[in-house]
Amino acid sequence: MFQISQMTGFVGAEITGLYLKTEISPDTAKALRDALGKHLLLVLRDQHLDLPDQKRLTQVFGAPMRLPYVAPIPDDPEVIAVLKTERETNTGVFGGEWHSDFSFLTSPPAGSILTAVEIPPFGGDTMWSAQTAVFESLSKDLRSFVESRRAVHVGKPYGAKHAPSADTRANVSIQMTRGDPEADRETLHPAVITDPRTGRRALYLNPIYVTRFEDMTEEESTPYLDALYKHAVRPDFSCRLKWRSGDVAIWDNRMTLHYATNDYDGFRRLLYRTTFAGSPPA
Ligand code: SIN
Repeated sequence: MFQISQMTGFVGAEITGLYLKTEISPDTAKALRDALGKHLLLVLRDQHLDLPDQKRLTQVFGAPMRLPYVAPIPDDPEVIAVLKTERETNTGVFGGEWHSDFSFLTSPPAGSILTAVEIPPFGGDTMWSAQTAVFESLSKDLRSFVESRRAVHVGKPYGAKHAPSADTRANVSIQMTRGDPEADRETLHPAVITDPRTGRRALYLNPIYVTRFEDMTEEESTPYLDALYKHAVRPDFSCRLKWRSGDVAIWDNRMTLHYATNDYDGFRRLLYRTTFAGSPPA
């Protein structure tokens, strides 16, 4: 049906022998979902999908989501243009910290898909880190600390309380709503979640959105969070994708963190992102 080549020890597989512009049969769709459950990140090269193709692919994994705070493209409320132009230099980049997408929602996206349209001649790679392997290799003490705990997730970058100052905002090509009091609402998620497909457990914390653990203050939580994040982004658990125009990446947004590298000032980078729904992390 298609070939799968594992990219690293813990996350990522390249799929070859599959052209996503043609109809995706139910058997192929199931095989793709199974591969995503196993490898957490799937990369398909040279696909050159248009937006209807990307939407069809998204539906293979779950219902496409509309997300708050980040403006979608004018023609489709379920698609975000991840764009940084050649004029946006010496600034932040969208996704330029380790995170998973929108974990402050009650039911955050189960996964995300990026299709690469314009890629700089160098840089602009995306990295993922397998939070399954991270959890499995935690020290005994950290593991028992985190195992039965819940973490508080807040839409910090979009809220009123934590809204970043103008000079630290990410690039201007992505229009975001800032200062919305609704984004300051606290959502609790287990700090360790189980993948319903595989039974594997993963650390579920988010360096952008988690403010503290339940029943602990921010000050009390910080030393634990710092230690856990240090482990969560170790290169040993990660995979780095050097994009080419036409590439597609599909990832599990619960079992991984990801990071957009910001090292291509003076060049334009454009990808389209869709996200798909799943039941709340448990
Ligand atoms: C994102 O965080 O979804 C964007 C990742 C990227 O631009 O590489």
